[in-house]
Amino acid sequence: SSSSRGTSTATAYHGPVVHSLSLTQLEVLPSALLVVSDGRVVSLDKDVARADVSHLLASRGVSADIVHVDEGFLCPGLIDTHTHAPQYPNNGLGGSLELLPWLQTLTFPLETRFSDLTLARRIFSQVIDRTLAAGTTTSCYYSTLHVDASVLLAQLCAEAGQRAFVGRCSMNRFCSDDYVEASTASSMASTKAFLAQVSSLPSIVKPILTPRFAISCTPDLLSALGELAAQTGLPIQTHIAENTSECAEIRRLFPASATYAGVYAAHGLLTPRTILAHAVHLDDAERDVIASHGAGISHCPASNTNLNSGAARVLDMLAHGIKVGLGSDCSGGCSLGILPQIRDARTVSRSLAFEGLAERGLSIAELFHMATLGGASLCGFDDVGNFAPGAQFDALWVKPRSPGMWVEDGEAVESVFEKWLFTGDDRDIATVWVQGRRVAGAEKA
Ligand code: GUN
Ligand code: FE
Repeated sequence: SSSSRGTSTATAYHGPVVHSLSLTQLEVLPSALLVVSDGRVVSLDKDVARADVSHLLASRGVSADIVHVDEGFLCPGLIDTHTHAPQYPNNGLGGSLELLPWLQTLTFPLETRFSDLTLARRIFSQVIDRTLAAGTTTSCYYSTLHVDASVLLAQLCAEAGQRAFVGRCSMNRFCSDDYVEASTASSMASTKAFLAQVSSLPSIVKPILTPRFAISCTPDLLSALGELAAQTGLPIQTHIAENTSECAEIRRLFPASATYAGVYAAHGLLTPRTILAHAVHLDDAERDVIASHGAGISHCPASNTNLNSGAARVLDMLAHGIKVGLGSDCSGGCSLGILPQIRDARTVSRSLAFEGLAERGLSIAELFHMATLGGASLCGFDDVGNFAPGAQFDALWVKPRSPGMWVEDGEAVESVFEKWLFTGDDRDIATVWVQGRRVAGAEKA
């Protein structure tokens, strides 16, 4: 695919591009030239006139198909740093419950059914299709405790072309009688069987160690997973400090640890590759522990509201230097994909500020960073989340179509982008690419 041989697979997109450079820097480029080859960004020129595109490419010896982004804009794909694929059928339920009874009455009974691979395939395929259409180019999935269903989820992500981390839940206590692992040894054997099978899949899908949460894992299971993470460098995902009753149960089960974060630290589960979901009820000492281990937090505002968990202090996390991404947490949260999380994160942050519990609400730059580049850093990526040269081309082409979006001819890109963030939906996502491959989109291919 070298351009010098005239067989280039390169595509040059010319027009509006929006992406995140850092927590405080949102870059809006009305007339960018973005060259993509072999699934990666080759170059991003910030300001190129339409009349100069061919000449500029020729002067660099780049032979590329030129695509004019003559409507809407390109932006990076959205990253869901925490969700449960098997819980999709329960989306919309549970809003009158809190975490522990919700798990027992709604969640575990549904997950138990994933011993049935026909059911698993039907539900997982829907989850992947619909989240890709909603712009989720990377997803961090929890499966169930079943090895076969978990491997199937990973296979389906690979087939559909969704970048994903897939975790088989480790859970050897607390859960219902017919939905629990028999022992630490059998749980670790299942995890190793899962890892072996997922290792043969395309690298777009990776396994992630998934102690469900400390209530559902005995101390020796937590330690065994911490040791496996240390030996292999595998990433880890779990839940932390979501609900006050959960936190009380943690204090009862782990009297030797002063805090919830301390429980995970004591078992080797806080690493730079750890994604902690929720973190609603943390104190400053715990935020320090999390920051010092380099672990990240998945902020799940829709779920935290729906399950009556509380309002997570995102500004405090950021002030401690903790990496923060967004998570849909299906079906604790009941809205699909990451756009609704951007909105709920803003609302929750403003509510905290209204009550004097935060200095201010979150900015658009911060929200979009969490949805893209910040989420990618939680996942351990240094080449996903924006359009820096060398980055994977995981991208959306947004063209206003949904009835809530009124866009004028010649309206500024910044304005169209803001309207889409807060009023748009998947009808506006014309094309979704992962690694340069078109994997979804409202527009006919
Ligand atoms: N804590 C342990 N398991 C779960 C789960 O499935 N969803 C949420 N939101 N919290 C959990
Ligand atoms: Fe969750």
